[in-house]
Amino acid sequence: MFAFGIKTGIIFSVSLARICTHQPGSEVNNNRKIETFHLATFGCQMNLADSSTLTATLTSRGYRRVDDESRADLLILNTCSVREKAERRVIGRLWDIQRHKHQRPHVKVAVVGCMAQRLGKQLIALVPHVDYVLGTDRLFELPDVIEGKEDTSPVMTAFGHENMDVITPARETSFSAFVTIVRGCDNNCTYCIVPHVRGSERAHSADHIVDSVRRLVDEGIVEVVLLGQNVNSYRHRDTDFPRLLRRVASETDIERIRFMTSHPKDLSRRLVDVMADEPSIMPHIHLPLQSGANRILQKMGRGYTVEHFEGIVEYIRRGLDYVSLTTDLIVGFPSETAEEYESTLAAVRRLQFDAAFMFRYSVRPGTVAADYEDDVPETEKVRRLKRLIELQQEIGRQRNQREVGQVRYGLIEGTSRRSVDYLRARTEGNKIVLFKAGEAEAGRIIPIGVTSADAFTLHGDVAEVRS
Ligand code: SAH
Ligand code: SF4
Ligand code: F3S
Repeated sequence: MFAFGIKTGIIFSVSLARICTHQPGSEVNNNRKIETFHLATFGCQMNLADSSTLTATLTSRGYRRVDDESRADLLILNTCSVREKAERRVIGRLWDIQRHKHQRPHVKVAVVGCMAQRLGKQLIALVPHVDYVLGTDRLFELPDVIEGKEDTSPVMTAFGHENMDVITPARETSFSAFVTIVRGCDNNCTYCIVPHVRGSERAHSADHIVDSVRRLVDEGIVEVVLLGQNVNSYRHRDTDFPRLLRRVASETDIERIRFMTSHPKDLSRRLVDVMADEPSIMPHIHLPLQSGANRILQKMGRGYTVEHFEGIVEYIRRGLDYVSLTTDLIVGFPSETAEEYESTLAAVRRLQFDAAFMFRYSVRPGTVAADYEDDVPETEKVRRLKRLIELQQEIGRQRNQREVGQVRYGLIEGTSRRSVDYLRARTEGNKIVLFKAGEAEAGRIIPIGVTSADAFTLHGDVAEVRS
């Protein structure tokens, strides 16, 4: 979502002797110290947020982040388990980085996050050159582990070791920051590994969140993204999610507030009302539908029907002058018939999402659905996904066409990935808009008249500044 490098903060000088007293998990010890690290992140925003915090933790302890793997003493992979493909990608990368250990035997490899949590020491059995495996509640202890502090070990996956309000939200860029408001997930979607690898829901206190946002504003941040697997179930004492949003909007000077992910069963009308009231809350809702067939939704354990989902969408579109809606969809869930798949296509046609993330069902060991027969053949899943993507792309293109002629306020993120002649900004509805302009001033919000659009991107020109 964000293009600029992660801020690494101040580098403190540290006693190198302290860093090197112990090198757990390593057969080779050639007395080189761990001074630099490289961090690769896989998976969702939650992992990006954790990676930012981990980076801040490591740099505050004297380690220096480098972009070039071949200059890093410690290679860290923050991993995802959500689909088999995500895990295969991590394993591939692990075998690829083995060459660094061959060339520079003091190099250490740490696997952290969701896949570390799921596999624990099995990961070392699978890829023996992995030195450290730290789960989702333990990754921030990485500096202690590499320094061989007491009560640490190379593999740590127990839950419940985090002190929620001590983990400081870190900046993602100089202008935008993720703020995790709730960790873990209490839903039991039958296909999903996340509750297994992230544990049960733990909410940060509203005071802590508001203070964090205030501090970020003081540091020049203009946009925060409040994160949770299901932000709508946020509750800390008497503060629920709409109240929290209201507090962040009214008690801080943050210019833009975004949030994700919303769960359709918990999204309340009050949330929409708060959004309509508070201009700093951006009009974008990521609302995963998953399937357009009620029997499949029930088998997925989603806790809503297609009709309920459509009712929410109607309320949202009626309540907000402008809103962009995005979703997640899965095809080929066990026992999904051709007709049920057609119901998903029909729901997508009716609901007119601005964009969607679309996936083939992937069996996740240990989940409830893993006991169901994975009976939709892979070739059929591929076919279903392809048609769904084609349909959604066409709808996305039409939705984006509706933006042509409008003035949108874009938060400049940097230059376009394709051409340095264009700047890239993010509109209120979280759409990318490319426009020609002079110097990139990342973090500035400017009006852009939209002149054309395709399925994924808007194009425009800087518009007259509204007084
Ligand atoms: N908490 C969010 C999503 C987390 S995972 C929510 O409830 O919507 C992101 C997306 O990955 C999910 O929305 C789902 O569409 C997809 N996904 C999760 N598990 C999957 C699996 N086993 N196979 C295919 N897609 C999956
Ligand atoms: Fe997974 Fe469902 Fe939780 Fe989302 S709400 S993380 S899909 S279990
Ligand atoms: Fe996110 Fe993947 Fe973990 S989607 S919560 S990084 S399993």
